[in-house]
Amino acid sequence: MIELQNVTVSFHNDAGNAVHVLDKIDLTISKGESIAIMGPNGSGKTTLVRCLNALLLPTAGSISVDGLRSDEANQLLSIRKKVGLIFQNPENQIVSTSVEREIAFGLENIGTPTAEMHVIVDEMLQRFELNKYRKFPPYLLSGGEKQRLAIASVMAMRPEYLILDEPTSLLDPVHRDLVLDFIKELHQKSAYPGAFPITTILITQFPEEALQMERLIVMSAGRIVQDGKPSELFKDVTFFKQIGLQVPIEFEIEYLLKQRGIDKTELAAIFPPVE
Ligand SMILES: Nc1ncnc2c1ncn2[C@@H]1O[C@H](COP(=O)(O)OP(=O)(O)OP(=O)(O)O)[C@@H](O)[C@H]1O
Ligand SMILES: [Mg+2]
Repeated sequence: MIELQNVTVSFHNDAGNAVHVLDKIDLTISKGESIAIMGPNGSGKTTLVRCLNALLLPTAGSISVDGLRSDEANQLLSIRKKVGLIFQNPENQIVSTSVEREIAFGLENIGTPTAEMHVIVDEMLQRFELNKYRKFPPYLLSGGEKQRLAIASVMAMRPEYLILDEPTSLLDPVHRDLVLDFIKELHQKSAYPGAFPITTILITQFPEEALQMERLIVMSAGRIVQDGKPSELFKDVTFFKQIGLQVPIEFEIEYLLKQRGIDKTELAAIFPPVE
């Protein structure tokens, strides 16, 4: 379980005043959940997930991950091993000169024995269909392949929580679906034998993606303004429009019909279902 209590992150602006990027956030994430986070640009989504794996330490408040506390320096590495974070732009994450070295990089850093490292690297290359590119320099990969490499490198570390910061924003619809199906599969089947399903946290600007997760957290101006089941939250179309977010197309259509005084059932009479 990840617990945030009263978490505030502030920066000082040019005038020397403190600006709260996260403002007194309370949040509990249980093992095995699948969560989407939505919010307008600058609402604090990336800052929040950087706190979840203690990459960023809060100005005030406390963060604990399965009992490990982010204010205890000797527990930070354990937190970062438990909580894998895939960055908004894979280019910022990829540091090595070949695909296989990139997957090994994190394992080397945590002192994984060489024999074990080879086994894990091979497993990840297979799992993410990157085997034929294993000797390639990462810059030759396509955007979607780079995205898979970034996911493979984080997964090699066996995280129990996996955070993906807008992993599909650079992808075309086909590759978006591939990445999304993969995320769902990870969550449903658990990538490691006998382990708990991985807790998945997906930041997305696409409401259709959020609809596929069990829980939706909506952020605005550094606060959590909604937290619940996506199919329930999206019913309040006006709310999403007010903060500059879209809802899935079916919710939008129902909203537009209602505004014109047309009931869904009347529409079914005009347009009977296609056989
Ligand atoms: N180191 C920093 N110093 C000052 N301001 C910062 C710093 N890091 C982030 N911010 C500000 O915090 C706010 C929230 O940033 P964050 O990246 O968390 O937003 P976001 O919701 O992920 O946005 P996007 O949808 O564009 O990815 C932004 O206004 C950003 O400029
Ligand atoms: Mg962001």
